[in-house]
Amino acid sequence: MVCIRKATVDDLLAMQACNLFCLPENYQMKYYLYHILSWPHLLYVAEDYNGRIVGYVLAKMEEETTECHGHITSLAVLRTHRKLGIATKLMTAAQNAMEQVFGAEYVSLHVRKSNRAAFNLYTETLGYKIHDVEAKYYADGEDAYDMRKQLKGKQIHQHHGGGHHHHHHHAGGCCSGEAKADKTETKGNAKVA
Ligand SMILES: CC(C)(COP(=O)(O)OP(=O)(O)OC[C@H]1O[C@@H](n2cnc3c(N)ncnc32)[C@H](O)[C@@H]1OP(=O)(O)O)[C@@H](O)C(=O)NCCC(=O)NCCS
Repeated sequence: MVCIRKATVDDLLAMQACNLFCLPENYQMKYYLYHILSWPHLLYVAEDYNGRIVGYVLAKMEEETTECHGHITSLAVLRTHRKLGIATKLMTAAQNAMEQVFGAEYVSLHVRKSNRAAFNLYTETLGYKIHDVEAKYYADGEDAYDMRKQLKGKQIHQHHGGGHHHHHHHAGGCCSGEAKADKTETKGNAKVA
């Protein structure tokens, strides 16, 4: 059994190890710390029955643009645990948090043109569309697809009418860093401080 849960600071070394196993794009520990300190709601891990981290998603909010949107920085699942739906669950968890906590309107990511597994995951399973192509985006010169998926975000309210309508309360200013954590998350953060 593999469980998907929010990452804590104690998971970061295992996430980094998983990233090193799976991807040529690697990051210093301070970049993982920057993510978890800034957007603790947006990091998820997949943990197996032994407590081993077998997959992760590292995500953030983009703050420099006017449109509020999330961005997937990195996603990977260990080879031994692929094709079980784990990446789908990790991505869905991060996307939901972007929408519910930060009111993100869409989510963006980059993927290598040649990465068929990830491309299929994004387009077929998760509903991303190619927004642009970034030539020579990767260090080895490969092009990236710049992909986006619209989240229901604020638009959903305009389409709903009638009594069964319910509001999502966005907890803070979009991308403002004012998002309010719920009690569990606040406790989690306290460990870091
Ligand atoms: C891409 C990756 C994260 C997918 O993880 P996963 O847990 O195996 O993905 P899922 O089981 O959720 O797969 C969902 C869908 O993705 C697609 N997919 C996944 N692996 C695939 C493969 N090897 N070939 C083709 N399509 C694939 C399929 O459409 C699949 O749906 P299906 O099972 O109904 O056919 C994983 O292969 C990986 O870690 N690769 C190396 C790191 C990487 O490329 N990360 C993404 C960088 S942008």
